[in-house]
Amino acid sequence: MAARTPVIAGNWKMNTDVESGTALAKEISELSGDVSGVDKIVCPPFVSISSVTSAMSGSSIQIGAQNVSANSDGAFTGEISTSMLQGLVSHVIVGHSERRALNGETSDQVAAKAITAAEAGISPILCIGEDLSVRQAGNASSFVAHQLEASLDGYADWDSLIVAYEPVWAIGTGEAATSEQAQEMTAVCREVIRKLAPSAADSVRVLYGGSVNSGNVAELLAQPDIDGALVGGASLKAEEFSKLIAAAGSD
Ligand code: PGA
Repeated sequence: MAARTPVIAGNWKMNTDVESGTALAKEISELSGDVSGVDKIVCPPFVSISSVTSAMSGSSIQIGAQNVSANSDGAFTGEISTSMLQGLVSHVIVGHSERRALNGETSDQVAAKAITAAEAGISPILCIGEDLSVRQAGNASSFVAHQLEASLDGYADWDSLIVAYEPVWAIGTGEAATSEQAQEMTAVCREVIRKLAPSAADSVRVLYGGSVNSGNVAELLAQPDIDGALVGGASLKAEEFSKLIAAAGSD
């Protein structure tokens, strides 16, 4: 199997203002700025991107956005386009379950965002995952396979893609998927990629997200199809986030 560089990405969500975000970025940068063997990404709120970038300058930590419009410009009040993000971020989260649930984003829209981002040279971190009722009904694998395929409809830039399997029932609940469940589902994601782009399947990074912390990260990362983590709550604590980076990195 091709060696895949692990990824630890922090999704700060609608937490941190400019001041606290800048302080958090400085701390993370001091603790983890030089760790190698892992792609380190933080995704602050849009308004903090500049100050977080300054606070982390000189480190190898990359910056991501939490969302992007699929439209290029025009009358879209409150939206942010890829051209506004170009030069500011290397990555963007698309299709997070909170946006799907709270903002009604469909997989078609998520695919359009992923395509637009990749075309602008911004790597999409594309999220998919089942909710509790789907899992309890025994349909998690088929649901996630279908959701991922639909969210990649028309997508072609396989080198830049990162996929994040995030079961909705594990997000922010403190109840992470077991490493077996997470492995099974990240393998499902990889098989979807194999079907769509056979030559890319062994190089696309597939992350797990949902209550990842320093106590469960090692076991998750040890699974053959899990290439890192998308982290919410634990990414807001510099020491805890740095432990995740250390667990994934090579020094
Ligand atoms: P959590 O969030 O780590 O707080 O569960 C994960 C996410 O929403 O990406």
